[in-house]
Amino acid sequence: MQMNKCEIICETKTQEQDFYKESYVLLESAILEIILRIDIMRKIKANSHERDPIEHYKARIKSIDSMIDKLKRRNLPITVEHALTDIYDAAGIRIICTFLDDIYWIVNMLKNQGDITVIEEKDYIRNPKSNGYRSYHMILKVPLHVENKIRNVYCELQIRTIAMDCWASLEHQLKYKKDIPNQEIITWELKRCADEIASTDLNFQAICDLIEANR
Ligand code: GTP
Ligand code: MG
Repeated sequence: MQMNKCEIICETKTQEQDFYKESYVLLESAILEIILRIDIMRKIKANSHERDPIEHYKARIKSIDSMIDKLKRRNLPITVEHALTDIYDAAGIRIICTFLDDIYWIVNMLKNQGDITVIEEKDYIRNPKSNGYRSYHMILKVPLHVENKIRNVYCELQIRTIAMDCWASLEHQLKYKKDIPNQEIITWELKRCADEIASTDLNFQAICDLIEANR
């Protein structure tokens, strides 16, 4: 079980630190706070010899270029204040689970944290996007104690299975290859793969249930 070894990905750390200034530490801390909560629950599961629901996770601070693009798209001034209060994914965590039910276990666990508030939820598993994209998205508001006040920091979570992650990575790569012919066939084939993967995830879950029922 890989715990507390979360490297926070940041494209050009010095540039991002220059832009986010003191808030860079807040963004990192919000990520670490959520990961700590998740790891505590994993340790409790491990102690009772239960299966680890998480394959791995990745975290990132939004690159300055993507943040500026997003602020411009929303017609917002390019300031760190707007980046932290109006854009909810300056801090992001992607959690890759083993089985489908593990996703909902994590979602429930996070909803029960008390001090962490769920601002937005999108279940793209029960309601997949038209291109076939599946994942569970959550925006969390994480309170951080800074000296004598509390700073609330937003963090976007994407929770998906290994199979969903594989599809999303490939689709993301192909999205940028706009100049290739047969776009329609590619889109259709990608959607078909997404549906096959979804059906395989259901089969994997059934196998997992069978094994666990016999433990
Ligand atoms: P913003 O939050 O403003 O970016 O837009 P939104 O709320 O409509 O986006 P959403 O929360 O649905 O998705 C945000 C993130 O999910 C994206 O930045 C991607 O990382 C991922 N995502 C969403 N849709 C797709 C998709 O079709 N393909 C892939 N590969 N990733 C996706
Ligand atoms: Mg969003």
